[in-house]
Amino acid sequence: MHDLTPTRDSLDPIEIASIDEIRALQLKRIKRSTRHAYDNVAMYRQRCDNAGVHPDDLQNLSDLSKFPFTHKDDLRDNYPFGLFAVPREQIIRVHASSGTTGKPTVVGYTKGDIDMWADMVARSMRASGTRPGDMVHIAYGYGLFTGGLGAHYGAERLGCSVIPVSGGMTERQVTLIEDFRPTTIMVTPSYMLNILEQYHKAGIDPRDSSLQVGIFGAEPWTNAMRKEVETAFDMHAVDIYGLSEILGPGVANECVETKDGLHIWEDHFYPEIIDPETGETLPDGEMGELVITTLTKEGLPMIRYRTRDLTRLLPGTARSMRRMEKITGRSDDMIILRGVNIFPTQIEEQVLSVPELAPYFQIVLTRDGPMDAMTVLVEAVESAATDAARAASTATLTQKIKDIVGISVNVTVDIPGTVERSQGKARRVVDNRPRD
Ligand code: DLL
Repeated sequence: MHDLTPTRDSLDPIEIASIDEIRALQLKRIKRSTRHAYDNVAMYRQRCDNAGVHPDDLQNLSDLSKFPFTHKDDLRDNYPFGLFAVPREQIIRVHASSGTTGKPTVVGYTKGDIDMWADMVARSMRASGTRPGDMVHIAYGYGLFTGGLGAHYGAERLGCSVIPVSGGMTERQVTLIEDFRPTTIMVTPSYMLNILEQYHKAGIDPRDSSLQVGIFGAEPWTNAMRKEVETAFDMHAVDIYGLSEILGPGVANECVETKDGLHIWEDHFYPEIIDPETGETLPDGEMGELVITTLTKEGLPMIRYRTRDLTRLLPGTARSMRRMEKITGRSDDMIILRGVNIFPTQIEEQVLSVPELAPYFQIVLTRDGPMDAMTVLVEAVESAATDAARAASTATLTQKIKDIVGISVNVTVDIPGTVERSQGKARRVVDNRPRD
């Protein structure tokens, strides 16, 4: 793999500023941002008044914990534009996330927001090892989803040649990579596995591809998956995080030289970790729910937005800004089976540790009488697809999962090609339990 470490003088000075400088900037910006939300969004004003807090009370960053949280439901309740803090005419773009039930959540950006977003994605890409002049293949979906256009503007901002492929048509993705020879690809990690499969089908060795770095996000993925993709393509696999309510991609990103968690771009986003049950703010290093306050957003400022993503904050390494550990999962995706908490990422790690299994999986939940049951659906690789081989890998995976989560789950190892392939964000959990 190539050494893609960016030179220090190519970084934004704030990325390597002192902690004191960063905290001072954050305090200045958080005062302005909470004031902007309070003055221009009825919901924030009402919430703050009810809680007896006011933006003027923010003397220290720790005072933020007195402010009420914002939830995804607040966006739905104020659908579509009720939380915008500027006149609608100043919103030059909207995006929306589908969600599984009810109305989508709609987000809006001013010209300044789009500009800041492009800067953050450009910074994220540079941290990933992409350089001006590189060719970038973008296979995140374009449209209401923030992935495609978010990546696109950032790649242009960095000065790259952009190939706006969007998702789908996997055969064509391979053809374009082979013909155009991009060095960076931006795509969900689960869809990257589809592209890998297509390489094998086409009889092309992925290690000979032009790709040097993949910037993967929009869904949880493990270090085991990193190894899988890095080995298969002989490329760097770097994690990018974000969510539409806060920005889209580019809230945090790993550095290619360390790959030790994602530096949060703290000059624009203030992170906290809370206990998801009590709402109490937890010290750095402790696991909990990530809460983000935007520091510079104009169109849709967010005060203490509860992401439902579980992680912990760690001190800076390659950059001064704090890191968040790779996300364990969303609190919504946590499966509680016979009193035990299970995350799809734990299953991913185990599936990837069995060489006889392909890297695709789905978790199916059913109800058997009063009890919930969980089945892990996986498939054998071609060379281990006989009945006997599949029986052996069933036993292996069952034992590995039991060792990790503490209880037995059902495992089905099917023949190659049977597990649903991801077209973007993988559907890891299929809940077939009857609704109460
Ligand atoms: O997924 C934005 C994005 C696009 C991020 C492309 C990275 C790359 P939403 O559709 O609003 O936005 O979904 C946000 O996806 O709260 C997490 O649960 C999950 N997620 C995003 N990035 C990561 C990641 C985009 N790197 C939700 N690791 C978030 C784990 C992630 N989960």
